[in-house]
Amino acid sequence: MKSSKGIRKWKLTNFLLNRNYVFNRSYVLKFVSSKLLANSYKSISGWKNYKATPLLKLDKLKNDLKLNNVFYKDESKRFHLKSFKALGGAYAVEKISKGKKNIIISSATAGNHGRSVAWGAKRLDLKCKIFVSQYVSDSRVKEIKKFGAEVIRVKGDYENSLDECKKLSKKNNWKIVQDVATKDYKLVPQLTMAGYSIMIREISKQTNQYITHIFLQAGVGGMAAGVVAGVAKYFKRIPKIIIVEPDRADCVLQSIKSNKLKKIKIKKESIMGGMSCNEMSYIPWQILKKASNCCVSVSDRHVAKTVVMLKDKKLSKNSIIGGECSTPGIISLIGVCNNSKTKKMIELNEKSNVLIIGCEGNADVKLYKQLLSKGRK
Ligand SMILES: Cc1ncc(COP(=O)(O)O)c(C=O)c1O
Repeated sequence: MKSSKGIRKWKLTNFLLNRNYVFNRSYVLKFVSSKLLANSYKSISGWKNYKATPLLKLDKLKNDLKLNNVFYKDESKRFHLKSFKALGGAYAVEKISKGKKNIIISSATAGNHGRSVAWGAKRLDLKCKIFVSQYVSDSRVKEIKKFGAEVIRVKGDYENSLDECKKLSKKNNWKIVQDVATKDYKLVPQLTMAGYSIMIREISKQTNQYITHIFLQAGVGGMAAGVVAGVAKYFKRIPKIIIVEPDRADCVLQSIKSNKLKKIKIKKESIMGGMSCNEMSYIPWQILKKASNCCVSVSDRHVAKTVVMLKDKKLSKNSIIGGECSTPGIISLIGVCNNSKTKKMIELNEKSNVLIIGCEGNADVKLYKQLLSKGRK
């Protein structure tokens, strides 16, 4: 059974091998320690309603691409928050608040991180202020408000919302829970990355197949670096790490290309909103500059079609709800396989067990519906 007509024409925008690649477990665990990773699993697995998210198989796609397995970690089922982000922000809130009840949590967000922080604050009965830019959809704002947080809209882009969040938090003594690290703001982002590593802890128990390749979406790189830390701790064999970005926001690819943290200019926002970032977070940079084998970028062109293929069982026997940020791993895998040179370069073949992270479900309900109808045209 063929997954879908036309996918054999899909192309990557860019492909870059990392000349500085060396995967060293202890180097990675220097930035997010083994203890931090173990503690995050211990805490989060004790939360009410915790359940490992499904590790699905995209069998129709693997047949089409002639691979051994394509696994899909379905984060649409994460704590009813519909995104892996539930693991990060909420965990950081728990650690930062240290059981105190009289503190106020704040954060700036493009959507899912803020939702996780708001949910984490509600779990612990804490007040919460979430700052969003003018580009964050009303539908995402509604989801954040559901958890009782106050949402403050700021004119301009994400950076403007972060500046305002920092300014007001300093003035009012609110505790900022941000997922982006800088040289002097590391602990909270490390906690969020540790939270994300749980996906790998779960996978290490969900299959006894050795994963050979992981396609990891990146915005500022927190999710990718958290997963890499999980790999360093929990996997017996190290798979190839492929970083995936929208071509309009390829800050990881550009940083790895020039071997230094690069701030890029985003001319037009990608439909993959959570990944539309112009600069990497500091700790993820330290990790990914060594641990990623290659970086790829893709356009928005096939996002809607991929959302439909997931939903309409074109890739697997079950219908999967995957939002816009769940698609680029699949699009990149297809793009790499369509080019015999890139396929060979990363040694993708009939023995490969590929892992794709289905980062989110219909976290933005309105956009998800629009993508379904666009992709079916
Ligand atoms: C919904 C969503 N938001 C954000 C991101 C980016 O995460 P990070 O900024 O940690 O790289 C992703 C995936 O990469 C995602 O799927």
